[in-house]
Order: sequence, then C-alpha cells, then structure tokens
Amino acid sequence: MSERIVIFDTTLRDGEQSPGASMDTRAKMEVARQLEKLAVDVIEAGFPVSSPGDFEAVKAVAGTVKEPTVAGLARCVRGDIDAAAGALEDAKKPRIHVFLATSKIHMKYKLKKAEEEILKLAVDSVKYAKKFVDDVEFSPEDASRTDLDFLAAVFDAVVDAGATTVNIPDTVGYATPEEFGRIIKHLREKTKNGSKAIISVHCHNDLGLAVANSLAAVVNGAQQVECTVNGIGERAGNCSLEEVVMAIRTRKDILDFRTGINTREIIKASRLVSKMTGIIVQPNKAIVGRNAFAHEAGIHQDGILKERTTYEIMKPADVGLTGSKLVLGKHSGRHAFSERLRKLGYTPGREEVDEAFAAFKSLADKKKEIYDEDIRALMEEQLLPIPSTYQLEYIQISTGTTTIPTATVRLKKEDEVFQDASCGGDGPVDAAYKTIDRITKMKCRLLQYSLRAVTSGKDAMGEVTVRVRHRGTEVTGRGTSTDVIEASAKAYINAINRLLFVKGKAGSAT
Ligand code: KIV
Ligand code: ZN
Repeated sequence: MSERIVIFDTTLRDGEQSPGASMDTRAKMEVARQLEKLAVDVIEAGFPVSSPGDFEAVKAVAGTVKEPTVAGLARCVRGDIDAAAGALEDAKKPRIHVFLATSKIHMKYKLKKAEEEILKLAVDSVKYAKKFVDDVEFSPEDASRTDLDFLAAVFDAVVDAGATTVNIPDTVGYATPEEFGRIIKHLREKTKNGSKAIISVHCHNDLGLAVANSLAAVVNGAQQVECTVNGIGERAGNCSLEEVVMAIRTRKDILDFRTGINTREIIKASRLVSKMTGIIVQPNKAIVGRNAFAHEAGIHQDGILKERTTYEIMKPADVGLTGSKLVLGKHSGRHAFSERLRKLGYTPGREEVDEAFAAFKSLADKKKEIYDEDIRALMEEQLLPIPSTYQLEYIQISTGTTTIPTATVRLKKEDEVFQDASCGGDGPVDAAYKTIDRITKMKCRLLQYSLRAVTSGKDAMGEVTVRVRHRGTEVTGRGTSTDVIEASAKAYINAINRLLFVKGKAGSAT
C-alpha cells in the first residue's frame, strides 16, 4: 500500500501573506469550508497574535470545521503561544505551530542570538505549547540554509521536547530538489529521532522549484507537505496544493504515495481563493489555469478528438471541470471546427462546411478567440445571406445616473424613414431595443447579449452579438462600432432583418 502524505494547507496563513491578499473572517470561513470539502488534513488558519482580526478568524475556523486539524502559528514567544492556544480553544483537533529561525544569517542579523540560545528557546517553546495541546509542530525557519549538524540537533531536541511534527521550511525558495531531498534524508536516517515525528516540508517558490522540492522531500522521507491553493503566499508563493497533489496522483507509477484530497473540489477551491483574495490565476497555471485543459493548435485538437490521452495527462473531471476545451482560433483545424458545428446543432454538407470554414479562418485572423455565438452568426450569415431590410440611420441616447434612459432611433426601410423614441428601465440598450421594437412592430425576446472588444485601445471596436426569439424562431444578430450603443442597435436590427427574412416577411411589416 502506498504511503499516505499529510496535506497541510496554509492558504489562510502563508497564502494570506501574499501582498494584497488579506481576508476577513467571513472570507476565511468560506475558504475553510471549501478546504474541508477538498479534504485537506490540516488547515493553518492564521497567526493569532498578529492582529485581533486574525485571532477572531482562527477562532471562527476552529469552531466550524470538523474533520481537519486546525493550526495556529506562533513565534517562540509565550504571548504568541497563549494567543494561538486561545484561538484554538474550540477546535476539535488543535495544533500549535511554533517557529524559530535557525540559519546563521537569521540568527546573527535578525534574532541576534547564538546557537545555544536558539536551541533552548525552541525546546522551551515546544514544552510551553505542549501545556495547551498534544499536537505541536515546530519549524526551524530558513532550514534549507541552516548548518545541517545544527539543524539535526534542533530536530532531535524539539522532538524530545514533545514536537509531533517537525517542518523543514525552504523559507526563501533557495534549495534545489536534489539538495533538499538530501537534507530530508539526513534528518530521517541520521538523527536519533528521525522516525519519532512526522517530517514536514514547506517550500517557497522563488526559483519556481517549490513543487519539485516538495516532491523530492517526499521521495526522501517527508510525510507532510505544506502548500497553498493556487500556490499563493509570501513573495513568489508557496508549493501549490493542486500541483503537488495532482503530480502524486498522476505519476503513481513512480511516486508510490497518495493523499486524501478530493481532487474534484480543486477547481472550486481555486476559484474561491482567487475571488476572496483578488489574486487572479494566470491562464497557463498548471491544473487550475483557464488554459490548463484548453487546446488551440489544430494538430492537438485533432488528436484530442480522436483520443483524449494524446494531449492530456489528466482527466478534466478529476479536478472538477466538465471537460477539455477546444478553443477555436486561427490555429484550429477543420476537424475541431466541424465538431463544434455538430455540437451547436448544425449538420451542413461538405461544401457548406468548406465555405463556413473559410469564413471562420478569415474571422479568426481578426479575432483572438472564436466563441459559439460567433459560429452561430457565421453559419446564419453563411447559410442565409440576408438583405438589410432595416438600416440604422440615426440613434441618440440620453442617459445618466439620475435620468431615465431615453432612446431616439431613426431607421430606413427602402425609401421610407421611421423615427420613434422610448424610455428603458434597464438602461440605454434596453431603451434602444424598445424603440426599435416600436418601429418594426416586432416584439422580440432578447435571449443573449454579449459585448466584446475586437480591437484594443481607447478607440477599440466593440462587437455585440445578440440572440433573439420571435414567435418560436431564434436568430443571432451581430453589430460592430466604436460606440457600444450603436453596435448594440446594429446587432438587434441585424437579428430583426434575419427574422424577417427567415419568416419570409420582408416587406410586409410596417
Ligand atoms: O516560510 C517559512 O519559513 C514559514 C514558517 C513560518 C513555517 O512560513
Ligand atoms: Zn512560508
């Protein structure tokens, strides 16, 4: 049976140390509930002494989650440990996590203490924390830059003092996998207490090696990995939970380990953490980035459609996604395009597909990504080139924060000109659409409205796509302009022209 790795999530503590990521109690509670669904083993909820808000948040999380252990961070200072113990009072499974730097650089410049003092302080603090809880974790901060013999001495001493987990942080993300693995192996195999406590690792990502270092540590005897959702954390962040968990799961052939994580909750956790912290996930972020399961190249899309595993090493469903995404853009091929047509309900013949594909390629040269609405509009244009029964001559909108939006619209139909005005409760676009309905006497139901910039800059062209229904017939309309209201009106008129054509009513209305 593979060895079970403890997942210690520190999104609410180290993750919150990401610049600008602070979360209030309500946000931390929501994330903590999702972490429980994700089935993490330990939630480090905060650093209680750091602020009354953090104390309150740790207390709230401790009193809410049932399954995971809840940890509170403390320096080797009695007041910190008291605060952590107080905040964890209601926790079913409380853990106090004390830390003290052990590297020469930190001892000399930051703490101004000698090795013997550090050793004594670490031991005394672990003993003090033990008065409150059984589960005490000790972290020799900056362990990867600590003299190995001294690190081993601290390790043995804190375990003798009662630490149940000793966490080895690569605080500044300096270690390399091979080197870090060696440190863990040494502590596990060459110390007196190497097998008497859980060895944990806590890697930062300054050199982009946090996940690799954590995996190297696991292979060399670490039993707990500290990590954060989306890899957020101090500076370049921490080891990413989703990456380390999915690496262990995906490469079981060479990593004989398992975690208890419910991986299907990963995407939800990622999105929630991003929402609560305001830290956007980069599109190409492994596992949870918008593009992690998206394919654009024609060759890849063709491969995926033939056999998913040609270009995917994980199932999207395993992380909580509904499926892979074939992004239609200028690199896409005919196979993916016709597949999308089929999904959208079109069954064109070979020649029609050829024509539509050519139109798609020229659109793809202008737009980065082609959406389903674009394809619908394109197919409708392709299959049914329509006459411009109504043309927009003029539109004037009067709107503001305290005025009811009013639209005056003039439409031309052959040689006739129609003008009308009306007010819209839901804004200027609504007002414009109501006026167009009055002129054309076709009350359409707006099913979908989307606005996108198709060029960049202040004078970007806005493209509006609408989907409307009229007496059971649905059509798409599209309009572009640098003025979004004009683009909206054009899209709606385009849809009405299509409806008139489809229904064979051109010339009979109005
Ligand atoms: O990076 C670090 O060393 C830490 C410790 C407090 C564990 O976050
Ligand atoms: Zn850290």
